[in-house]
Amino acid sequence: MNKETALVTGASSGIGLHLAHEFARHGHPLVIAGPVQSELETAAEEFRSEHGVEVRVVAKDLEQENSAQEIFDELQAAGVEVDILVNNAGHGFHGKWWELSLEKDLSMIRLNIEAVMRMTKLFLPPMLQRHRGRVLNTASVAGFMPGPMLATYYATKAFVLSWSEALATELDDTPITVTALCPGVTDTDFFEKGDAENIKARQSSNVMSPQDVAKEGYKALMDEELFVIPGAANKAMVATRRILPVTTQAKLNEKMNSNVPPEKATHERGEKARSSDQPKVNYPRTT
Ligand SMILES: NC(=O)c1ccc[n+]([C@@H]2O[C@H](COP(=O)([O-])OP(=O)(O)OC[C@H]3O[C@@H](n4cnc5c(N)ncnc54)[C@H](OP(=O)(O)O)[C@@H]3O)[C@@H](O)[C@H]2O)c1
Repeated sequence: MNKETALVTGASSGIGLHLAHEFARHGHPLVIAGPVQSELETAAEEFRSEHGVEVRVVAKDLEQENSAQEIFDELQAAGVEVDILVNNAGHGFHGKWWELSLEKDLSMIRLNIEAVMRMTKLFLPPMLQRHRGRVLNTASVAGFMPGPMLATYYATKAFVLSWSEALATELDDTPITVTALCPGVTDTDFFEKGDAENIKARQSSNVMSPQDVAKEGYKALMDEELFVIPGAANKAMVATRRILPVTTQAKLNEKMNSNVPPEKATHERGEKARSSDQPKVNYPRTT
């Protein structure tokens, strides 16, 4: 049994669910967080029965400013020490920036950035005290370039990537490591939730399964990599985009983030995900 306890946010579906599977498969005790208790309980049951690990469930909406503190206090009171913090929960809303509501922009900033800051501010100091710990932040290939039609989302991921790399460097002379996981398009509920299921990037054939993304993320974290871009095609895409002028990068991404005609929107959610990725059911939120 691995003794490093991992706390994974956004563990009820997609990449977070499969990251949690990876930790469980390697014997890590788990704390899984997400907004809906029943979804977390279902996942927890799977981890317990398939891998025999201890799993604690914390249902919190991380967009609420007190949630990180409440998670931290609950775990402290229960004597649970978090050795690995996985800031994975995130979402992105599609559309022209001026046509999206300010509330959607702020929602992305609250979940993708503010919650990550709050969680890390709380969970990093005890790691420093114990001289042991790892942080995995789910950024994106979106963090490397501007993304018209998903402008705020890309900007939040640029924040996460830049901040992760800087924090990792500040921690160089400590035993704590920080890794940024930068997936490309992955077959999860992300696109449906953000009104982006028909964009060209989602409808292309270069879509990875969340299982494969999670495997690469876990390995990079344990290998203490600064960042990882899962998949050869995604690595090549980032490498080639980055040598182009920024205006060209933006134009290419605008195309990839635009809707295809309905007759070309043939790829559906779940094609790349394998059996353990349960179909999504929407439950009311706890808060
Ligand atoms: N899919 C991609 O192509 C892709 C590519 C690059 C990076 N990413 C990043 O990967 C991460 C995971 O996304 P995903 O693709 O796996 O999508 P997903 O299946 O929609 O997973 C998102 C997770 O975050 C949780 N979540 C949503 N709102 C929350 C809140 N307010 N408080 C706490 N948890 C919340 C969701 O819970 P519910 O299910 O209950 O809402 C779910 O567990 C995100 O940071 C995303 O930006 C995704």
